[in-house]
Amino acid sequence: MSETKSSPGHEPRAVCLPMLKGGFGKSIFANTLGDVRGHDVLVADLDPAGHLSTGLGYYTREDEDALDLGDVLLEDASPEDIIKQPGYGFDFIPSVNLETVTEDLSRDSVMASDMRLKQDLVDPLLGDEYEYILFDIPGSRNKLVNNAVVAAPNAILPLKPVPEALNGMRETATKLVGEIRQHIDFEILAVVPNDLRARIDQQTKDRRLLEAMNTQEQFAAYLLAGRDGVDPDTGTLPEDLDVTEVLDNHIPPFARVTADEWAAIDAGEMDPPKIPIRHSAAFGDAYEERKPVTAYDPECSQIPYFEALAEIIEQGGIQQ
Ligand SMILES: Nc1ncnc2c1ncn2[C@@H]1O[C@H](COP(=O)(O)OP(=O)(O)OP(=O)(O)O)[C@@H](O)[C@H]1O
Ligand SMILES: [Mg+2]
Repeated sequence: MSETKSSPGHEPRAVCLPMLKGGFGKSIFANTLGDVRGHDVLVADLDPAGHLSTGLGYYTREDEDALDLGDVLLEDASPEDIIKQPGYGFDFIPSVNLETVTEDLSRDSVMASDMRLKQDLVDPLLGDEYEYILFDIPGSRNKLVNNAVVAAPNAILPLKPVPEALNGMRETATKLVGEIRQHIDFEILAVVPNDLRARIDQQTKDRRLLEAMNTQEQFAAYLLAGRDGVDPDTGTLPEDLDVTEVLDNHIPPFARVTADEWAAIDAGEMDPPKIPIRHSAAFGDAYEERKPVTAYDPECSQIPYFEALAEIIEQGGIQQ
């Protein structure tokens, strides 16, 4: 028996980044979160496009000769056969042949096909080899996304301040989270604004996103999609649920701006805070250098917020 991997007070946990919209920061979150708190972490790139793999220096997207996730999920290869050591604070499964793997999974029996990643990868490794497993997924749904949400029922959702942000949140909530909650307990550990750069005392895109996230019952209803009495389409919560409490439980304290604080900002009684996670050129530069930002620029001012997110993962949610 191998030694059980778990820090005192922290349960091992598998986490996914299931935002059904490209470009909000899933891949950056995956490799940064993997490297911040010194745990034994496995990061897996489940996106056929392989942006995360490329950003870590792996180029083998289609390579018929290479062992791939399909050999683990549908044949008898063991996970160790496909796990790499990029040399940062996490082990890594690169994106190899994932179009084929997804097709092969679709031909698998319907019942079994969404359980493969849990049974063949997470169950054998989580708590034994790794304290945390993180899945980076593509921005549109496929069989591997289904597998990821079943295997890793804890979500971190990045959102960028663009007009499609709330639409992405709605799609993810109604089409993925609400549906999976009919079958399993699925937690959104945190929803996180990313790539912010404008002031929030004027009507900027940043303000529109932050204010919607931080005040709307509609947003709270997205977060609780699939729970009893919650209607994400009309944006209503049951009587006994308090919008403020739901938002407190899902928005990290560093990004939480309460209704009173918005009023104070608008009355000029409070300096508008610079809410993280900010835009930082270091993320793109790190990608060019094929490294996580933690290795490229350990002084990057945004890393402490990823540490805060990693603590939220450790604790299984935001602690009030
Ligand atoms: N905080 C940030 N500061 C600067 N650039 C950022 C930031 N967050 C993300 N980016 C840039 O935005 C782009 C999209 O980020 P990323 O690849 O992590 O998103 P994604 O959700 O994984 O997208 P996809 O679904 O296409 O894989 C990248 O070029 C990344 O470098
Ligand atoms: Mg990505």
